Amino acid sequence: MKRNGNLLTVTLALAILFFAGNQAKGQTTWVAPASANSLKNPGSCDAATLKAAKTIYTSTCAPCHGAKGKGDGPAAVALNPKPADHTSKAIQGESDGSLFWKLSEGKGAMQAYKTQLTDKQRWSLICYLRTLKK
Ligand code: HEC
Repeated sequence: MKRNGNLLTVTLALAILFFAGNQAKGQTTWVAPASANSLKNPGSCDAATLKAAKTIYTSTCAPCHGAKGKGDGPAAVALNPKPADHTSKAIQGESDGSLFWKLSEGKGAMQAYKTQLTDKQRWSLICYLRTLKK
């Protein structure tokens, strides 16, 4: 009986560690609907657009995503899951439409920016995200 009790304790402890470990990685699989891939930027990523986007990024996104987009902004410490690393292969590998959709809809700590920023501003941020490639 005693032995079974210990075994149960060990099993529970392992299960908790496993769960905590997965949480600590702070990675989720956030997949935009397939239809998002067909969204196209109606504007261009010219110098003026990138400059304006950088201003928005620095004030609005950097607190969580970091000044260079690495997901290491000051507010990131308290967040789980962690803000995405915009320089990562995974994010850079996504379509513009998918990133635009996520930025518009939000998830968890990240709000739905379709109510905060215009379409033009959100597309400009997608242009800017592409400059953060490693
Ligand atoms: C309050 C913190 C916070 C702010 C501010 C914030 N984000 Fe996020 N963002 C997150 C978190 C957390 C995630 C990860 C959500 C998840 O995977 O559950 C995320 C994910 C994303 C993703 C999706 C990455 C993927 O999985 O493909 C994009 C794109 C993104 N953010 C862009 C932005 C942009 C651009 C801004 C500024 C307009 C911004 N975020 C502002 C916290 C934030």
